[in-house]
Amino acid sequence: MFSFKHLLSPDQVTKADVEKVFELADRFAETADHGSNKELDGKVLGALFFEPSTRTRLSTETAMLRQGGSVINVIGMESSSLKKGESLQDTARMVSNFADIIAMRHPDVGSVEEFAKGSLVPVINCGDGAGDHPTQALLDMYTIYKKYGRLDGLKIALVGDLKFGRTVHSLIKLLAFYQVELILISPEALKMPEKYEEWLKEKGVNYKVVSDLEANLQDVDVGYITRVQQERFDDQAEYMRLKDSYIINRALMERVAPNSMLMHPLPRLDEIAVDCDDWEGAYYFKQVKNGVAVRMAIIFGLLNS
Ligand code: NCD
Repeated sequence: MFSFKHLLSPDQVTKADVEKVFELADRFAETADHGSNKELDGKVLGALFFEPSTRTRLSTETAMLRQGGSVINVIGMESSSLKKGESLQDTARMVSNFADIIAMRHPDVGSVEEFAKGSLVPVINCGDGAGDHPTQALLDMYTIYKKYGRLDGLKIALVGDLKFGRTVHSLIKLLAFYQVELILISPEALKMPEKYEEWLKEKGVNYKVVSDLEANLQDVDVGYITRVQQERFDDQAEYMRLKDSYIINRALMERVAPNSMLMHPLPRLDEIAVDCDDWEGAYYFKQVKNGVAVRMAIIFGLLNS
C-alpha cells in the first residue's frame, strides 16, 4: 500500500504515498469525526512519547481506537527503562512483542530511526527533536489539499522558527513533489538550516529566503507559522530576544492575504493573535481535526502494506 515499512522521515515517502494517504484519509474522515470501525480489530498500538505532546499523542491514539484497535503507552523518559540505560534498539525489540505498530516521539534527532532498527513492527516518527515530524507534514498537506483541491500552483509562506521547527523541515520535502512557490520568512538566527536549502536547490524548488513578514505574506495562498522552539535553545536570553519575532493578527491577514489559509501546527503561543480564531481563513484547528483521519490512514496503510 505504501512504499515504506516505517514512517521515519519524508525522505522515504513518494508522491504516490502522499496521494494514497489523501485517498485513505478521505475514506476515514467520517469515522475520524466521532465514529468507529473494526478495520484494526485486535491490533495494538504502542505509543512511546519521551517528549511532551498533547495533540500528536491523543490524535495518534484516537486514530487507533476509532479503528477498533487498542493502545498501550509510555509517557515521559522518567517512567521508562531508557532511564536505566536500555538502548533504543533493545527497547524497540522488546516493545515489538507487545505492539503491532509503534508511534514514538523523542528529543534527539535520529533517535526514532535508531529505534526502528531494532523494531520487528512498523514505527511511526512522531517527532525526533529538531529533525522530522512526517505525520504532521502529511496532515498539513491534506489540509491544504482539502481547501484548494490541488497543491500545484500555490504560493506558500513558512514563517517563524525554521531552524528548529521540525514540522516545516518535513513539510517542505512533501511540498516539493508539487509546483509550489515557497517563501521562507524568519529572522536571520532562525533560518532554515543550510542542508534543507541545499536540498531545495537540488530539487529545483522555487523558493526565497526573506525576513520581512508583511511584504512577503502579500497574496500568499497559505501562511504557515511556527512557534519559536524554546526547548531547543541553549541560551534562554536568545530565546527571549527571538520569541516574538512575528505576530500575526486578523487585521494583517485581511490586509495582505484575505483569501488565504492561516496554518499552525500548534501549540501556539503569541504568534497568532486570538482574534484570528473566528476568521474564515484560520485553519489551525481544522489541521487538528484532519490529523485523526490522516493518522488513521497512516496506521491502516502501514498495517496493510
Ligand atoms: C509541533 C511539534 O511537536 O513539533 N507540535 C505538534 O506536533 N503539533 C510543533 C511545536 O511543538 O511547536
